[in-house]
Amino acid sequence: MITIPKGTKDVLPSESHKWRFVEDAARRTAEEFAIKEIRTPVFEHTELFARGVGETTDVVTKEMYTFEDKGGRSITLKPEGTAGAARLFIENGLSSSPLPLKAFYLTPCYRYERPQAGRLREFHQFGIEVFGSAEAETDAEVIFAASSFLDKLGIKDVELEINSIGCKSCRAEYNKALKDYFRPHLSKMCPTCNERFEKNPLRMIDCKEEGCKAITAGAPKILDYLCPDCKAHFEKVKSLLDVLNVKYSVNPDIVRGLDYYTRTVFEFVSTSIGAQGTVCGGGRYDGLIEELGGGSVPAIGFAAGLERLILLMENTGVDFPPPKAPEIYIAGMDERSRTEAFKLACTLRASGICAECDKMNRSVKSQLKFADKIGARFVVVIGENELASGECDLKNMADGTSVRIKTGNILSYLRDNKL
Ligand code: HAM
Repeated sequence: MITIPKGTKDVLPSESHKWRFVEDAARRTAEEFAIKEIRTPVFEHTELFARGVGETTDVVTKEMYTFEDKGGRSITLKPEGTAGAARLFIENGLSSSPLPLKAFYLTPCYRYERPQAGRLREFHQFGIEVFGSAEAETDAEVIFAASSFLDKLGIKDVELEINSIGCKSCRAEYNKALKDYFRPHLSKMCPTCNERFEKNPLRMIDCKEEGCKAITAGAPKILDYLCPDCKAHFEKVKSLLDVLNVKYSVNPDIVRGLDYYTRTVFEFVSTSIGAQGTVCGGGRYDGLIEELGGGSVPAIGFAAGLERLILLMENTGVDFPPPKAPEIYIAGMDERSRTEAFKLACTLRASGICAECDKMNRSVKSQLKFADKIGARFVVVIGENELASGECDLKNMADGTSVRIKTGNILSYLRDNKL
């Protein structure tokens, strides 16, 4: 048997309503914040991610699905949504549209990681990106949008952690301090950290190796190296979150796993889904558009992993609204009434009613059993008598009561009695 590739997941008919619920909440959040949808290709030129996400990140060095296409181009399946969104913004000249430009996406992403609970090779993100505003209000609004999305899902078991990782100028100072701190420890640190020491010491803070983590714990904190502007920006973001009543804690160890971040970074973290507890992460990336060849356009955004959100909701007993069941099941007794039941079901469907009828040549008894199994709200049996009289008994499956109505009035009855 051919099986599903490692690190990927099917969504079964019995669980797709969970996905619909989360995606609907994402779309509703976007609508409330006047954020328009964008769609970018699942694959891009590899260089976009190498330059955008950063040459020293795990994503670029170890996790990308990269291949040469038949035209000899290096192509990569998107490991995240921000770089593609930034390319879209630049390539379509959107810096001359009214700013800030607010965009959202729901997209599959691909990372060659070791699969575990909440960590897949194909996963899905809901992301929001705002281009063109450097103001702290935008940081607070984007964080508030993420929090409002999580609220809509009924998720309570999650905490917001924020940090600032400064701008180019304070980062230079900080990198120097980091190098001074790490230099005497290098021989005890992993090869990746040794490589990052030269290229991007900030990334060493993100190392997951136990030995390195112990050393990293004592490293200087970026918050002590922020320039006055970055400090003021961070203070403003915090005070706006206070105004909005958004609870957060400052975690100076959040540096995020991607290189484009500047200033505000944040994560929504849960302890209920195991080691991969970050359900949503984001931050400001004021240098990315320029890095990718656009103008100097500040930006900020976040992405939430849909698989992790669903897992968190399942693990913490958050209720998903039940999937929609058919409004009516129309059973047929003999050849002629079956055809009539089939026709009636299709007519009702054409009027927007979810109707079902038999396609398995079952007995009436089995048809009624099936109607019960699929949770039909009303059931009607059509036989010779019903065909002759033009009337039928419409049974309400919830309370067992029946009403006798003209068969031609079923549509208006269902419309009048919508849940
Ligand atoms: P990220 O932290 O790499 O950020 O990913 C965002 C979210 O995607 C994570 O918090 C997690 O929920 C989910 N995620 C990441 N990797 C996996 C995986 N292997 N399996 C399942 N879920 C995963 C970004 O991708 C940035 N582009 C976010 C952003 C947008 N920053 C600014 N704008």
